[in-house]
Amino acid sequence: MKMSNLCLCKIIPSCCFFIKFVSLTLFFVLYCHATNNTLTPDEVLKDGQTLISDGGSFKFGFFSPSNSSLRYVGIWYSNISVDSVVWVANRNAPISNKNGSVRLGINGNLLVYDENETVIWSSNTLINSNNYTAVLHDSGNLEIRGINNVPVPSFTCWQSFDHPTDTYLPGMRVAVKPNSGENQIFTSWKTVNDPSTGNFSMGVDPKAAPQFVIWEGSNRRWRSGYWNGLSFSGVPNMASFYYYGFKLSNVDSNGNMYFTYSPLNRSNKFKFRVTWDGYEKSYTKGNDSKEWSILQYEPGNDCDVFNTCGANGYCKNANKDLVCNCFKGFEPKFPDKWGNGSYSGGCVRMNQLECQIRNNTVADKDKFLEVDNVKLPDFADLSNAAEKDCQKECLQNCSCMAYAYVSGIGCMSWSDELIDVEQFTEGGNKLHIRVPSSVLASNKGKLSTPKIAAVVVSGVIIFCLVLLCLWNFREKVKVPSTKIGNDPLAVRLRQGNGYSTDLSGSQEIVGENNLTNAKDLPLFNYNLGTLPGGQEIAVKKLSRKSTQGMEEFMNEIMLIAKLQHRNLVRILGCCIHGEEKMLLYEYMPNKSLDSFIFDPIAKQQLDWKKRFTIIEGIARGLLYLHRDARCTIIHRDLKASNILLDQEMNPKISDFGMARIFGVDQDQANTNRVVGTYGYMSPEYAMEGFFSERSDVYSFGVLLLEIITGQRTTRFRFSEHLNLVEYAWSLWSEGRTMDLVDTSFGSSCPSNKVIRCVHIALLCVQDSALCRPTMAQVVLWLETDSLTLSNPKEPTLAYSSTRRFVDIDCKRDVQDIDSSSNHVTVTMLVGR
Ligand SMILES: *[C@@H]1O[C@H](CO)[C@@H](O)[C@H](O)[C@H]1NC(C)=O
Ligand SMILES: *[C@@H]1O[C@H](CO)[C@@H](O)[C@H](O)[C@H]1NC(C)=O
Ligand SMILES: *[C@@H]1O[C@H](CO)[C@@H](O)[C@H](O)[C@H]1NC(C)=O
Ligand SMILES: *[C@@H]1O[C@H](CO)[C@@H](O)[C@H](O)[C@H]1NC(C)=O
Repeated sequence: MKMSNLCLCKIIPSCCFFIKFVSLTLFFVLYCHATNNTLTPDEVLKDGQTLISDGGSFKFGFFSPSNSSLRYVGIWYSNISVDSVVWVANRNAPISNKNGSVRLGINGNLLVYDENETVIWSSNTLINSNNYTAVLHDSGNLEIRGINNVPVPSFTCWQSFDHPTDTYLPGMRVAVKPNSGENQIFTSWKTVNDPSTGNFSMGVDPKAAPQFVIWEGSNRRWRSGYWNGLSFSGVPNMASFYYYGFKLSNVDSNGNMYFTYSPLNRSNKFKFRVTWDGYEKSYTKGNDSKEWSILQYEPGNDCDVFNTCGANGYCKNANKDLVCNCFKGFEPKFPDKWGNGSYSGGCVRMNQLECQIRNNTVADKDKFLEVDNVKLPDFADLSNAAEKDCQKECLQNCSCMAYAYVSGIGCMSWSDELIDVEQFTEGGNKLHIRVPSSVLASNKGKLSTPKIAAVVVSGVIIFCLVLLCLWNFREKVKVPSTKIGNDPLAVRLRQGNGYSTDLSGSQEIVGENNLTNAKDLPLFNYNLGTLPGGQEIAVKKLSRKSTQGMEEFMNEIMLIAKLQHRNLVRILGCCIHGEEKMLLYEYMPNKSLDSFIFDPIAKQQLDWKKRFTIIEGIARGLLYLHRDARCTIIHRDLKASNILLDQEMNPKISDFGMARIFGVDQDQANTNRVVGTYGYMSPEYAMEGFFSERSDVYSFGVLLLEIITGQRTTRFRFSEHLNLVEYAWSLWSEGRTMDLVDTSFGSSCPSNKVIRCVHIALLCVQDSALCRPTMAQVVLWLETDSLTLSNPKEPTLAYSSTRRFVDIDCKRDVQDIDSSSNHVTVTMLVGR
């Protein structure tokens, strides 16, 4: 083979979807004699002087936008020349010369003076003390606080982060105020070079479930769709763009909640901005690049623009052209205009609802039309109804036009017209629209014979495909991925300081090769060393013997490599050298989680707060694998030693996707072995070799218990207890949960939070896979304390050796099981 001595590597095009972007260029006159990061009451900051934040990231002072001589007081990135202003004080009162100044007033106010010593801008703080200073933090936040850095008791008097201009920076909190309605927080500049108040604003509408909105004046221009606890449901590609950096806090004592966002890569600069022309854009900039890249912008297309198709219509994006349609049972209100592409009139019902005709007396003649993959209409009402009662509740009220039950939000209904609906090709939610039963009936009647034939044929095809998939799945179940772990090199690499470095690249070797799809693959020399940029990487050697085809292998690698999440170790590329295959990982200087939580000395570095961050991170990473990756990826070997920690002790799951990388054929010799690690394996997996996402949930539950107790599940030695799960259950059921807690942080932790975590863990390790929560639920539970948890069932299989393994359906009563023929009952013996 041509490349026998070369390694073939594909470095992930992490920026492939970034659009290069150059926008406004600002010109600053910067003077050398800048002061430090603090302005005290007796100091004057003159035009030309700046405060510089401690880390040197931001400056505060006077600036002029390009093409302008007007002077503004603001905050900007200190080392970026383009598009760098993040906050402006006197946006509507510029100074026309360079004789302005900034001072702290007697009453703690930050004041901007013009050349006549007239106050043209004030922070409007009411402190009545001159014991305060203004400090510019390295996050870009200007804070007025107690002198000598004495913190102001329990509150911050004023900070620029609470009064943003048009830019969101990491660390800022966006208030969601359920009791005071819409909160327009960010306001755009007027033009690209004019910071004065523009036409557009951005903020949060808390009704039903919070959503981000862009307004033009008081009219909506775009909305994100409802927050479902994990993402904004009207932004279907959100997972890949935002990497789940959004979080909504619990309700604070003022009844407010806060959105925060933390970017994927903390060493890159990141911001959101509502631009002068009405877009919400998120930007990132690496240290080496000169320009900002746009990660994402909204509205991203014409269909995203608010209510493009009018009431009761829905918008679909077909090959970049928008298509407006009326829902079934509706017709255009103004057919002539609609035909000319003027959709704002929307659609009206062709026939009245039965409940309307009969004056609300008979409701059940109406039916519901299901529409899938939509951004749910705006202006929803939220009720407490359970999923099964949501439809009934809507049916009983003739003013209910549609309903939807969304996990993470609840039962939503719409009592008026359906506004701003968009249909996606995937993602979105299911909407149930109330229609007269005739609308649905006409559907069935119209199926002609050829159509029926087509339906039957496609049904058969689908059935076959499903069978095929199931067959494949059964085969893959048996792939022993521990083989990777047992490879001597891999084992060595994973010990000590994590992974070792390997491979040197040589750009000159990049050349023609005949591989399909390999045009953009750099070729790497097999000598040891570092990557061209000097970046340290980790290498994991896979298997020597493999009959998997090269192309197949590359496809799998590319799939896995595309997964990016802050809580997954990044795979930078792969490498094929003769029969050897290797994975190139990002290098993790810290060790894995097990070397902390089980080590009597190292564990003291992990207080409860850190442990909880780790728990949350693992949960989010796993959720991404299960739900948001392009395909569902089941880890199958989640355990403490597979969780690596970065410098800031953020957890990164490693070894995901191993089961996918190993093809089916190559491992058939070993099909009888079950992959996984004793103690973490769910009963159905250990006993039957059957696994699903819920087997990962089980392993997560065990891991959670390990993090809390500091005890290994595999080396559990308590007199009457066989393992950690059983031990945890016995203490929990006796109400002695806090006795479980690792003594190294036990005294300092909030017991309600710890008990909740143990509760969640016990829900995860229930015998029946069907009773276990999904990772989406787990993440919600971890982050929202107000959600109530059901009672876990006792985990018996984890420590019984000869019990019947019955995968019961959680929703049924236990008595049902034996009478139901639908349930598989497997009796087996487990060797110990
Ligand atoms: C200012 O601080 C000093 C010492 O920190 C304190 O004694 C004094 O009361 C403070 N003055 C005001 C007006 O708060
Ligand atoms: C803002 O609104 C004014 C008045 O309606 C209009 O003239 C101007 O073009 C708008 N600017 C932008 C950027 O849309
Ligand atoms: C984060 O960005 C920095 C600078 O651009 C880069 O060196 C580093 O590798 C990135 N880290 C990750 C995990 O992507
Ligand atoms: C029906 O729904 C409307 C709108 O949501 C609401 O105002 C009204 O109280 C409901 N009526 C009943 C009887 O529940």
